[in-house]
Amino acid sequence: ALKFHFTDFPTIIAHRGLSAFAPENTMASFRLAALNGFRWFETDVRLSADGIPMLFHDAELERTSNGQGLFVDYSAAHLKTLDAGGWFSQDFIGETIPTLDEVLDLCLELRLGINLEIKPNVDQDQATVEAVHQLLQSRHANPEILFSSYSVAALTLCQQLRPRTPRALVVDNFELNTADEIVALTERLGCTSLHINQQLIYTDLIRLAYYAPFDIMCFTVNKKITAERCWGAGCASIFSDTGLLEAPTLKQP
Ligand code: G3P
Ligand code: MG
Repeated sequence: ALKFHFTDFPTIIAHRGLSAFAPENTMASFRLAALNGFRWFETDVRLSADGIPMLFHDAELERTSNGQGLFVDYSAAHLKTLDAGGWFSQDFIGETIPTLDEVLDLCLELRLGINLEIKPNVDQDQATVEAVHQLLQSRHANPEILFSSYSVAALTLCQQLRPRTPRALVVDNFELNTADEIVALTERLGCTSLHINQQLIYTDLIRLAYYAPFDIMCFTVNKKITAERCWGAGCASIFSDTGLLEAPTLKQP
């Protein structure tokens, strides 16, 4: 049964760029998404030690760069010296950790919409939103943006500072809140969508959210069969590392 759709996002959003085929959260990954026809991508934003919004998923540097230790301990200038592509494959050596500023320019150039998932360093929920807001205010032009976060504090501040920029609550499981509470919270935060782990489509959450005034989007969905289950359950969009593409059909730069 299809839930009524409240937003107009594409049915597939590239997750961390087209991150199955290029290193996640890099310019290469975002460009590859655009080249393959995706009009929106999701990416994770957190602050360097000197308060610059940059795009990086983990709190620790090891998995997706050649750095060591905590992201938050380093200045943007230091983070920019790291390699963020070689861990993925030799073809991507030289990719760096992007600043949000440079990626917003890329979005304007390629006409991409950007889902900024606010990933606050410890106790930096508000500082992260404030820094992103300051950056957006300081720029001449910005692309279309959708904010999202696991952090209620971050979303509350998004609502105050940028009431007209759409926002979404991200939920992975029911450890913190019941399904009922999640639906109420999403509505109270004025979210236009709720971004859930795709496994939650098999829970009561779908039924409880059916008449709620927001869309449901699912992460991370890399197979067509899973995507069809999400759409079939009434979810508006999926976040996908593969874009449901297979390597032979991928357009290469
Ligand atoms: O924004 C959806 C999804 O990216 C949330 O989880 O850990 O992949 O950032 P994660
Ligand atoms: Mg994310």
